[in-house]
Amino acid sequence: MVCIRSATMEDLLAMQRCNLLCLPENYQLKYYFYHILSWPQLLFVAEECNGKIVGYVLAKMEEEAAETHGHITSLAVARTHRKLGVATKLMEAAHRAMEEVFGSVYASLHVRVMNKGAFHLYTETLGYQIHDKEPHYYADGEDAYDMRKYLKPASALAAANGTSGKAKEDDGKQKKAGDGRPKSGDKARKAKVAVDEVD
Ligand SMILES: CC(C)(COP(=O)(O)OP(=O)(O)OC[C@H]1O[C@@H](n2cnc3c(N)ncnc32)[C@H](O)[C@@H]1OP(=O)(O)O)[C@@H](O)C(=O)NCCC(=O)NCCS
Repeated sequence: MVCIRSATMEDLLAMQRCNLLCLPENYQLKYYFYHILSWPQLLFVAEECNGKIVGYVLAKMEEEAAETHGHITSLAVARTHRKLGVATKLMEAAHRAMEEVFGSVYASLHVRVMNKGAFHLYTETLGYQIHDKEPHYYADGEDAYDMRKYLKPASALAAANGTSGKAKEDDGKQKKAGDGRPKSGDKARKAKVAVDEVD
């Protein structure tokens, strides 16, 4: 069984190792420290019962942006533990903390346009929508989708904005690309395996 829990300082090396095995976008250890010191609530790991770290999500808050929001810096699950719902659970934990701890209205991330597995996870399972496309975003020249998922339901946003009905759209791009709120097919709450969550 795999449990999802908040990451600690002691997990950072294992998270970095998992990242090196799974992704071409790698970071120095100090970048992991920067995340956990700044936003300790936004780092989660997936841990096997034997203590092995088999997945992680590294997230942060974009506090300089016009609208403060959470951002997924990196997500990976070991090959041995894929397609079991682990990434879904890690992402849900990060989303919940972004909203509950920091009042984040939405979460953003970048994904390679050719990363079909991650794209499916983000769009079909978690309800992200494409906000923009960034040409040559990655070091090897591949384009990225800039994606967003709204964390609060439209009714709560409307109440916060003092409007009724549809929440105001904040810029032209959102109108064109969709606002990122989950569609009726959003399966974010689906649990597929014995994945436990502990604080
Ligand atoms: C992308 C990744 C994090 C998914 O992790 P995971 O634990 O296997 O994902 P889940 O089990 O939660 O799967 C969620 C959904 O995505 C689908 N999915 C996962 N991998 C898939 C793949 N390679 N191809 C198609 N669909 C895939 C699952 O079938 C599931 O769909 P469903 O909800 O419709 O049943 C994992 O494959 C990985 O670590 N990849 C390498 C690193 C990476 O690409 N990170 C993302 C960078 S933006």
